[in-house]
Amino acid sequence: MTPGILPGDAATPGIISDPGTIRAAVVAARAAGRSIGFVPTMGALHAGHASLAARAGNECDDVVVSIFVNPTQFGAGEDFDRYPRRLADDCRLLGEHGVRWVFAPEARMIYPPGDATRVVVDGPARRFEGRIRPGHFEGVATVVCRLFNAVPADVAYFGAKDWQQTVVVRRMVEDLGLPIWISVCPTIREPDGLAMSSRNAYLSAAERRQAVGLHESLELAEKLWTAGEPVDSIEGAMRAAIEAREIRVDYAAVVDPDSLAPLATSGGPAVALVAGRLGGTRLIDNRILAARG
Ligand code: PAJ
Repeated sequence: MTPGILPGDAATPGIISDPGTIRAAVVAARAAGRSIGFVPTMGALHAGHASLAARAGNECDDVVVSIFVNPTQFGAGEDFDRYPRRLADDCRLLGEHGVRWVFAPEARMIYPPGDATRVVVDGPARRFEGRIRPGHFEGVATVVCRLFNAVPADVAYFGAKDWQQTVVVRRMVEDLGLPIWISVCPTIREPDGLAMSSRNAYLSAAERRQAVGLHESLELAEKLWTAGEPVDSIEGAMRAAIEAREIRVDYAAVVDPDSLAPLATSGGPAVALVAGRLGGTRLIDNRILAARG
């Protein structure tokens, strides 16, 4: 048995906790001519995560999924302690999708005691989630950079569900010249349109019914955008649609999809971004709006 690897069986992938061990396995596979797809996650996996693993499996020879609830991307008073942790269930799901390795490190392996280094992100990282959750994207960028070092894959797969995260990660990869391709994949939704999220598990039955308001606001945004409405009236209508479901709005905006700054021209393309709170739960969603006339 390879040190550091708990062997999988036919249905469950091998679980590796040591960064050096997963790195050696990936380097060896690539040296043997195999392409590697990587899906970073925080676990509590659902069909959205599974879609990333499936896409990676279709496009690459071997798939690595990391499961690590990253403490540095949670602010004080956020849900780090109660974030769902279900490693055994997650591994079973990943086994069904042919994932070869699960990388599930401990915090001290990602952040060595006494470490003094963080990836600082600016520009689009300062807006929206970055403004409401100070330090969040520094935490995301730092852990993703660390994970890319442990898993030197060809392609890393991210969900469009967290649009701003994809912008921040793509910028980091470009700015630091990291040798990995970023693939952004579609958001997987519940039948009523709610974007799947590990945090949906926090919602009461009543909140779960209200939560569709975010999706409704994005549908409305697309309709108004296509009809040629100005951005400020679209944003007002989005906010009203969210509030109609008694969700407290953090933001409802139509902005440039790459810089997340106000649109330079009213024709787009654009992204509609929404975030709101139901009880103690924060939910986010977005929709890309194709260039209009
Ligand atoms: P997590 O929230 O677990 O999400 C892992 C990946 O799954 C992200 O790329 C996210 O955008 C994607 N994802 C989540 N819900 C999705 C859905 N409904 N449809 C499609 N993809 C979806 O995002 C993180 O973890 C962390 O910030 C991480 C990148 C792992 C760094 O810690």
